[in-house]
Amino acid sequence: MDFKQLVAHCKEYGFIFQSSEIYDGLAATYDYGPNGVELKNNIKKYWWMSMVQMHENIVGLDAAIFMHPKTWKASGHVDAFNDPMLDNKDSKKRYRADQLIENYCEKKIESKIKKDVEKARKRFGEAFDEQEFRSTNQRILDRQAKIDDILKRMNEHMRNDDMESLGAMITELEIACPESGSRNWTEVRQFNLMFSTQLGNIAGEEGKLYLRPETAQGIFVNFLNVQKTTRQKIPFGIAQIGKAFRNEIVARQFIFRMREFEQMEMQFFIQPGTQKKWYDYWKETRLNWHKALGTDPAKLRYHDHDNLAHYADAATDIEFEFPFGFRELEGIHSRTDFDLNEHQKLSGKKLQYFDPEMGEKGENYVPYVLETSIGCDRMFLAMMANALQEETVPDASGKDSTRTVLKLPFALAPVKVAVLPLLKNKEALTTKAREVFKKLSLDFNCQYDEKDAIGRRYRRQDAIGTPYCVTIDFDTLEDDTVTVRDRDTLEQQRVHISEVEAIVRKGVDMKNLFA
Ligand code: GAP
Repeated sequence: MDFKQLVAHCKEYGFIFQSSEIYDGLAATYDYGPNGVELKNNIKKYWWMSMVQMHENIVGLDAAIFMHPKTWKASGHVDAFNDPMLDNKDSKKRYRADQLIENYCEKKIESKIKKDVEKARKRFGEAFDEQEFRSTNQRILDRQAKIDDILKRMNEHMRNDDMESLGAMITELEIACPESGSRNWTEVRQFNLMFSTQLGNIAGEEGKLYLRPETAQGIFVNFLNVQKTTRQKIPFGIAQIGKAFRNEIVARQFIFRMREFEQMEMQFFIQPGTQKKWYDYWKETRLNWHKALGTDPAKLRYHDHDNLAHYADAATDIEFEFPFGFRELEGIHSRTDFDLNEHQKLSGKKLQYFDPEMGEKGENYVPYVLETSIGCDRMFLAMMANALQEETVPDASGKDSTRTVLKLPFALAPVKVAVLPLLKNKEALTTKAREVFKKLSLDFNCQYDEKDAIGRRYRRQDAIGTPYCVTIDFDTLEDDTVTVRDRDTLEQQRVHISEVEAIVRKGVDMKNLFA
């Protein structure tokens, strides 16, 4: 399914709505509908279980969104959390300079490489080896070298905070505004991505507050509170799920880049000098977490950063192949002792740990930190993109028919079981079905549906990814047996009502993901 169909599906089936839609929406802001909130909660549960519940040395936290403004000075966000932006004077549209340059590489150079590859594939047929062709064809090598050179220079200018040279690259590459087609640009300047607001009782700069741009800082400032109250020993982690806010210059691609979004972050506090070991450990552990959901490994890859954030000495992205290409889904950052050190300096409070295992008599030190940070909304989008499929299956009469099915892992499905009376105007059937619904709803998120023919009801449940449909028919009234239909195999088994709970429980158990 293409991206447009995916977005339409999310709306039609109550997963995601444009925020304030009746006022024509607010750009890059979305609301999660009844099925969306369930899926999102299940993703969070899977993350929390694997990070907190299943690690004796990782504990949870839920810090406030507002923090003392000095937090953001110490963390470097006031001075360095910027994107290079420029405006097109004709269209009045604002862009990120680095994204314009990256798009240029993709659309003007990479697309030509792809065309050559496709032509060669047709020419050579079965015997075609793409990797070999890419590494030996001179025209492709020249074009790739051009991309590498452009991106290298761009990264260098970004690292050096050299906005003038970045602007010069836009001119040199003759990049035009995608909207107006004009090259009438302003100069490139840094734009801070933090949203600010004002405390009610303090006027001016003093009362200026920021909406947190990452949840991590709530963890850093609570490092000692948590360590002391839980008596954790290094290495240990603190995990948190919560909203973050960024005034993105170009927010687009549906819920991929929003101004209000949710993060699932974990800071792992370690001995200085051990960061490489833990960086490798968490890189692998987090990739396995994604694979355990059944995601095709070919759709996941690492992208190591050349351009490191101000706090990191190593960083990688786990990228997922979204319908619009490979993009960052999760970040793994070796944050050194940067944050704790800076908070220590600015607050005047010690943020140190006494490690009895360091040196001969033990040592006090500021721990190093390894961070894993994943966007909940991006994970949601990745799951939807993975799961949404169209397939041909036999209908009730055995003929081929097309169904749209959301093949989410059963444990993540918004509704676990649908209870369907065969007919809606037979009171004995609906009464029995409601009894079954009431019982199952003590354990699972269930749906009761009596409208339309049974086949259409199955299709509705397929479209939201419901693993099981339980049908109550006339035999049920005689012998208390029901039909349980499996979303993926389409098998229907006849079982006693008392067995349904165990069947569903076994199928939707989160433990299956960890197996
Ligand atoms: N604490 C580190 C940190 O915030 P980041 O790479 O800037 O690192 C981490 O963000 C994750 O948050 C990203 O991998 C992405 O999944 C998500 N994320 C970042 N900006 C986002 C946005 N504007 N909309 C949706 N998700 C976003």
